[in-house]
Amino acid sequence: MDIRCAWFKKGLMADLVQPEVCEIDVSARVPPPFALVIFGASGDLTSRKLVPALFNLFREKRLPGDFAVVGFARRPKSDAEFRAEMREGVERFSRSRPINPAEWAVFEARLSYHVGAFDDPAAYEGLASRLRGLPGAGAIGGHFLFYLATSPEYFGEVPRRLAAVGLVGDRARQKIVVEKPFGVDGRSAARLSEALHAATDERAVYRIDHYLGKETVQNLLYFRFANSVYEPLWNRRYVDHVQITVAETEGVGTRGGYYDGAGALRDMLQNHLLQLLTLTAMEPPASLDAESLRDEKVKVLRSIPSFRAGDLSRNVVRGQYEGYCNEPRVDPASGTETYVGVRLMIDNWRWSEVPFLLRTGKMLQRRTSEIAVVFRRPPSVLFQARCGPALARNALTLRLQPDEGILLRFNTKKPGQGVIQPVDMDFSYASRFGSYTPEAYERLLSDALNGDSTLFTRDDEVREAWRLVDSIQGQWGGLPVHEYPRRSWGPAAADDLPGERDYRWVTE
Ligand code: BG6
Repeated sequence: MDIRCAWFKKGLMADLVQPEVCEIDVSARVPPPFALVIFGASGDLTSRKLVPALFNLFREKRLPGDFAVVGFARRPKSDAEFRAEMREGVERFSRSRPINPAEWAVFEARLSYHVGAFDDPAAYEGLASRLRGLPGAGAIGGHFLFYLATSPEYFGEVPRRLAAVGLVGDRARQKIVVEKPFGVDGRSAARLSEALHAATDERAVYRIDHYLGKETVQNLLYFRFANSVYEPLWNRRYVDHVQITVAETEGVGTRGGYYDGAGALRDMLQNHLLQLLTLTAMEPPASLDAESLRDEKVKVLRSIPSFRAGDLSRNVVRGQYEGYCNEPRVDPASGTETYVGVRLMIDNWRWSEVPFLLRTGKMLQRRTSEIAVVFRRPPSVLFQARCGPALARNALTLRLQPDEGILLRFNTKKPGQGVIQPVDMDFSYASRFGSYTPEAYERLLSDALNGDSTLFTRDDEVREAWRLVDSIQGQWGGLPVHEYPRRSWGPAAADDLPGERDYRWVTE
């Protein structure tokens, strides 16, 4: 731990001695030697995200001396072809470019490709003997990470077949990472978990939600629990409502085939937005270990009542961007939502009666992911008695991406006039720390290799998220899908989500 002392640079607080940095993170830890097997290695994720993340970890000396990465997929391909494809991916998508050829040469020697169908027992026998014969197999000693970047229909089959050849029996050393989507509803998610649990223990399962790997999302915990000034305000007494927005400017692009069967509710809200909600609303955990933290997140989800019949029309808005039905591989008569807005309540001691407004959509006006905690107005005397609703509420906005930062809005007297004006105090990550932001997958792969499951979703968390989402999708039929103009803020109907309260979406 490096604790240095510095004087406050501004103001008259020179007698206050402040520690500047305090290292608590273990994410820089180098994992023990390992073999990582990526199922579905011909897919986009491997070349866009996984291999660039591994290469960056390697460059930064955050991988051990002995490691191997094996791509497993059906399409016949040689090791050399696989390496060339991965190099192209790194050249296009890595955050550190151009690549250093000497570094790449050392790295690519660890990459190999295993041809096989996911349902072919012989392919798994072959994999087991390939893993036994890897250079460095002695040091690797059975430390395997199996990454399921496959279509979800194989999430059960692959672990079962791995178990049959004895590759996932030891939960301390053999882990399974599962990509999203984890089910399409509560029942299918439960079936997937059962299949995983038949092969291994829950503690060896790492369900990915890449939002949890984002620096600014992790900072939510630091912001809330490493400071003392906000926590006393972080409750129903001072908070009026909370808004969580994940807005994208792109449409579905080439993913129409998948997206048309999923929609914004399942693609984004069930996982990413609910994760942001739990981190915002959770109680302080007993400790920073994975289970304590995840226990608190589950408690938040459990406190959100399911939507009952008739609740949806006031609390949920569905939208579809203009022209969505003409996108490639989308049903021309599709009723899939590309926008969803939800107003929900957390029925617990801290948040009772505080609305949480969640919205996400594609083809919106601006790309932004942010959480705005909007505070109550002061009591109705003095300025508030004069101004009424014209007195702006204080708001604390955590900008998760892009332009990462934290903004506090408060009221001031405009100089020379009897006018109250809201102003912003704005912290920007880039200006304070430079533009370096590690990719979410670097953190997540490194954590999984180190056996740290804090940033992965647990079975009970996923089940609770689906319970809530099922109570919405179970009544979908009764809700209209409003068309909204491209590059707008979504359907006009979403403006009514706050109900009769006098506030609006913050980003408007
Ligand atoms: C993915 C969704 O999980 O997250 C995509 O499937 C979405 O539809 C993406 O575009 C958004 O992630 P990010 O990191 O770009 O905000």
